Amino acid sequence: MSVLEIRKYPAKVLKQKAAPVTAIDAELQRLIDDMTETMYAAPGVGLAAPQVGVSKRLAVIDISTKGAKMPLLVLINPVFLQREGAIEFEEGCLSLPEYTAKVERAEKVAVRFYDRSGKEIELEADGLLAVALQHEIDHLDGYLIIDRISPIKREFFKKKFAKARKTGK
Ligand code: NI
Repeated sequence: MSVLEIRKYPAKVLKQKAAPVTAIDAELQRLIDDMTETMYAAPGVGLAAPQVGVSKRLAVIDISTKGAKMPLLVLINPVFLQREGAIEFEEGCLSLPEYTAKVERAEKVAVRFYDRSGKEIELEADGLLAVALQHEIDHLDGYLIIDRISPIKREFFKKKFAKARKTGK
């Protein structure tokens, strides 16, 4: 296993809609292992394939580091079956280091996906797991948390980002 390079904003791959996984083969298993190791090393509670430069509908989530009793989740081609309610949550992202923003998400979700053995899974989630699922599936559609905040806040972020880039900070 190896730790992969995490792509950061404004990398193009983060803005792309990722393609469905078409084969759960040895190459994909290795990518899953490498992404898992990369997520733990960061550390983060989730990581989507576009964040390591692979535009495929694959993500890993482990919220147990935040005290939840939930095993590592490997999500292949996840889709929402249901979304209800609304919560606001302070989110960060490994592709936007040192930035957090309050993002409004559905409070409860139901998702369907394939696990790494190719088994179809349906999962209902609320709280942190629901937020993590929406955050990671957003990555597969080319959305970051800065796409989920108000236009004014987004402008503020972009200005700050441009300035930091210029001064090298
Ligand atoms: Ni993220």
